[in-house]
Amino acid sequence: MCGIVGYVGYRNATDVLIEGLRRLEYRGYDSAGVAVKTEEGLKSLKRAGKLKRLEAALLEKPISGSSGIGHTRWATHGPPTDENAHPHLTEDGKLAIIHNGIIENYAELKARLLARGHRFVSDTDTEVLVHLIEEHFQGDLEAAVRQALSEALGAYAIVVLHQDREEIIAARTVSPLVIGLGEGENFVASDVPALLPFTRKVVFLEDGEMAVITPDAVRVSDLRGHPRPLRTTEIEWSLEDAEKGGYPHYMLKEIHEQPWVLENTLGGRLDEANGEVTLDLTLDPTAFDKIHVVAAGTAYYAGWVGKYLIEKLARIPVEADIASEYRYRDPLADERTLFIAVSQSGETIDTLEALREAKRRGASVLGVINVKGSTITREADDTLYIHAGPEIGVASTKAYVAMLAAMTMVAIWLGRARGTLGAEETRQLIGEMRKLPRLAEATLAQQEAIERIAAKYHQASDFLFLGRNLHAPTAYEGALKLKEISYIHAEAYPAGEMKHGPIALIDEHLPVVVVTPKGPWYEKTRSNIQEVKARGGRVIAVATDGDEDVKGDAEEVLYIPEVHPLLSPILAVIPLQILAYEIAVLLGRDVDQPRNLAKSVTVE
Ligand code: M6R
Repeated sequence: MCGIVGYVGYRNATDVLIEGLRRLEYRGYDSAGVAVKTEEGLKSLKRAGKLKRLEAALLEKPISGSSGIGHTRWATHGPPTDENAHPHLTEDGKLAIIHNGIIENYAELKARLLARGHRFVSDTDTEVLVHLIEEHFQGDLEAAVRQALSEALGAYAIVVLHQDREEIIAARTVSPLVIGLGEGENFVASDVPALLPFTRKVVFLEDGEMAVITPDAVRVSDLRGHPRPLRTTEIEWSLEDAEKGGYPHYMLKEIHEQPWVLENTLGGRLDEANGEVTLDLTLDPTAFDKIHVVAAGTAYYAGWVGKYLIEKLARIPVEADIASEYRYRDPLADERTLFIAVSQSGETIDTLEALREAKRRGASVLGVINVKGSTITREADDTLYIHAGPEIGVASTKAYVAMLAAMTMVAIWLGRARGTLGAEETRQLIGEMRKLPRLAEATLAQQEAIERIAAKYHQASDFLFLGRNLHAPTAYEGALKLKEISYIHAEAYPAGEMKHGPIALIDEHLPVVVVTPKGPWYEKTRSNIQEVKARGGRVIAVATDGDEDVKGDAEEVLYIPEVHPLLSPILAVIPLQILAYEIAVLLGRDVDQPRNLAKSVTVE
């Protein structure tokens, strides 16, 4: 969380910073600020609220210079005010810092610095760092940053600028940073999209590395000062991939990209002739007795579907865990455990820490990840990229369907190698998987019908989502989408569990979304619809094309094309994404940047 951009070069740094921050606002939008090295020393401007407030302030008071740092904040310590906005500067205004993460021992450091006469103007943990660096600075900025960091505990990605130095210093522990390489200019950012207008040649800083960045050079070392090699990577995403492309919101664009995303995720990996998937993984699928699938939020729901698929196709016990719970439950992971980390960003700290816990216990790690070069991909033994392209909307959509497609392939990979899945069955499944992009396209055609349903129900104060087996996660994901972007309270339950308590919620005011496409769960879920109906609940069903029976029971039906039941979660979530989107738009919510959220959660 928090967006970071730094620049040194020949352009006006403020323009580069603002351009980069626009592409990072999804990381946090509580406040924004810049500090730029000008001919009259460092100048800084910061504003609580969204980036546009800072842009307006900069129009009135322009700042130009050839190096600078910029930040969008997701508040941890201290409310979103101008004072708490980054960058934080020393009292003499010569040194500035931006930070993502949490300095855990900030209170102790602050007490020490106060005693030495430093004056603090914010409530943030970050401000201690700028004073600590000042305390150590004797002309060598790199050395001062290194010394300060040796005293700081916690997670951080920082970028530091000094009025008398022709360089910016970047350093990270846990929180991500990526350096962009240019000609006569260089960049640093918390995420790749900020760099795309300028360069696609990047260096991902490793955990515990720092970099000295000048217009003509980038030098990387560890936090003790030992040199580290510059490992450059070419980013495949284009600038267009990270823009709205005519849609009013990134979320809607990303929902509509799903057919293409499925092509991308599956492309080149389905070998129908031999009934195999080609995943180019080095892990041995026969080397494990159990699997732990661990993730957060939407990625966890994809992992939950993955659990059912793997157990069904590969007959190996799988536990699906919420990442923030995993490491505290003393997990029974060992050398015969495959730990699968599912994550769009590859940076979610809960997932990363769970991964580290599993590794300490001897497990092998497979990452199912979207962002190339992200921390999880570097710490995992192997990575299966989901190839969803940049996902900017804070509410995850296209990454979810890509994760589901990827987990299906993982299940096939395991099942084929372990001899639990035959070639013919795999060929049939692959034949169906090939249809997914076209079927996703057909599902999107429901948009208008869903708009009408959204108009009818958008005033409801609560929703209940139900689904059974593979569609329990679909129900949870539908509820999460609705809560996140509309702020309507939504509960999800496995459909069979409803009668054990939540049924008491049902009355004529409660819309109940029941996910019931054709599959082994169908009849039982239909009975649950009857139970809701009998208590006056208003059912919105998600069903398979041609299912006329469900029409008699439900007030509304959203149809998805017929597909192999194991693949139906990939299609069934799409109407729920659109429903949440349309309701949020009708309520005038900020769809791409819903309150209190951030795209990638890098604090525990
Ligand atoms: O980047 P990750 O997939 O690891 O992110 C996990 C969750 O933070 C994320 O899915 C979150 O729940 C989204 N806001 C869901 O829309």
